[in-house]
Amino acid sequence: MPTWETLGPVKLAQADALAALADLSPETIDALIIDPPYCAGGFTEGGRTAAKGMGVTGFDWFQGDNMTTPGLVWLLRNVAIEAHRVLADRGSLLVFCDWRMVPMLAPALESSGLRWRNMVVWDKQSPGQGFGGFRAQHEIILHFVKGAAARLTFGVGNVIAAKRVTPKYKNHPTEKPGDVLTALIRATTPEGGTVADVFCGGGSLGAAAIATGRRAILSDASATHVASARGRLAFDPTRLYES
Ligand SMILES: C[S@@+](CC[C@H](N)C(=O)[O-])C[C@H]1O[C@@H](n2cnc3c(N)ncnc32)[C@H](O)[C@@H]1O
Repeated sequence: MPTWETLGPVKLAQADALAALADLSPETIDALIIDPPYCAGGFTEGGRTAAKGMGVTGFDWFQGDNMTTPGLVWLLRNVAIEAHRVLADRGSLLVFCDWRMVPMLAPALESSGLRWRNMVVWDKQSPGQGFGGFRAQHEIILHFVKGAAARLTFGVGNVIAAKRVTPKYKNHPTEKPGDVLTALIRATTPEGGTVADVFCGGGSLGAAAIATGRRAILSDASATHVASARGRLAFDPTRLYES
């Protein structure tokens, strides 16, 4: 059972995502906003499981990114089933994912009973590394809803423009920008509401929750990341993001 610590409006624990969710009470979360491992490190299943040594040894910070596609689908379908239980009526599940995973993940998440409502794009405003062709400039966020319709609290376009977090300011190697997270929180939760992230990395969703006047429940399987989230939220909660 996870041990939760309280840091102002944030609760934080080191735990597997499913164990953390199992510890939450029914219908208590307004939005579960998760950024799980992308499993995008290889072009084939073999390449992915061997991908760049990620998560194999000494890569605690990238834990899980060498899962196979069925492994990720299995994990996230179970996360979605728990999401259906812990979300308040009309609450939202928002899932960051690699575009290659959308055809597999969307039906698996939908099979939990949540309704697929939208596909939000994070526009990074400049292309990533590479030569020629369509260099990656966006990431996908799948939006699912519990009940007939989402409780949408603030209007925002489904393309959110925000620069990547500058490496020297990163609290986590794959940190998501505060501008994207605050937009997702404002669009789907009321002021004073509660958001959760059970793949919280360096705690970026907690900082975004504090900045928008929400409460946050955060957990991550990695002790290293939980320590860095604790550091960020305990000592400098206002450091939302610098880009
Ligand atoms: C993409 S990163 C999240 C980064 C985070 N959004 C941020 O801005 O710092 C994914 C996280 O999932 C965690 N993780 C991987 N498998 C997990 C599992 N089964 N349960 C909980 N956390 C897990 C990893 O330790 C990693 O920190």
